[in-house]
Amino acid sequence: STKKIQIAIDGYSACGKSTLARALAKDLGYTYVDSGAMYRAVALFAMRRGLWDGDQFDLDKLREELEGVQVTFDPKTGHTLLNGEDVESEIRTLEVSRPASVVASYDFVRTMLVAQQRRLGEAGGIVMDGRDIGTVVFPEAELKIFLTATPEVRAQRRYDELRGKGDQTTTIDMVSADLKDRDYRDSHRAINPLRQAEDAVVIDNSVLSIDEQAAMALALARQREQK
Ligand code: CDP
Ligand code: CDP
Repeated sequence: STKKIQIAIDGYSACGKSTLARALAKDLGYTYVDSGAMYRAVALFAMRRGLWDGDQFDLDKLREELEGVQVTFDPKTGHTLLNGEDVESEIRTLEVSRPASVVASYDFVRTMLVAQQRRLGEAGGIVMDGRDIGTVVFPEAELKIFLTATPEVRAQRRYDELRGKGDQTTTIDMVSADLKDRDYRDSHRAINPLRQAEDAVVIDNSVLSIDEQAAMALALARQREQK
């Protein structure tokens, strides 16, 4: 017989985690949760409230106001909702990327979002992507994938993605600098840094197509579903 498992996908920025996680969830009939979108939405909330000075957040005010932040996902579109408002396109900009990685270094923010992420996955049948899913959120996940690709490939992918969405101003150097900055912060923060789980399967997708990486992961998932 088969069971509905937990699947954790972690790795550096813009290597294809959410593309893989979404495809897996679709093929398996599971729920997909983009944990990075939750950090991005919290950052956007705080930026709108004027709590970001371009370098850091007003910690006391953010701590106070965090209770008023609700991040959910529209079940129909999969879009990220901030207090019910669809913020999907706004959170994906380069402008929100750095503040998102700064907000993600605060313990009180992580505590709140990790608790929420665990609730979403407690019944299994979940694919979640992020930085600490296999190490902290679901340490017992039946399948953990650590996705990597070269920095050049990742920058090109994110650049193409932004272009495709009509962004005409962001250069590839800006994208590269953002990825480098966030990779460093994500791997060096004190709380739940980006780490490869000991029992993770590492997939370097630098030369893999979207379909190839999905087929590899699906085979692993089907195998782990067998009780
Ligand atoms: O979630 P993460 O930031 O890791 O990456 P993503 O948003 O899933 O993927 C970034 C871009 O890379 C997307 O435009 C994907 O279509 C593309 N991609 C690719 O070209 N080849 C792959 N094997 C995986 C992703
Ligand atoms: O798509 P991309 O790889 O650019 O980033 P993301 O997955 O949307 O995550 C945005 C930021 O949130 C990351 O740079 C991390 O700082 C943070 N994050 C995290 O700390 N823990 C997670 N589980 C997911 C994201």
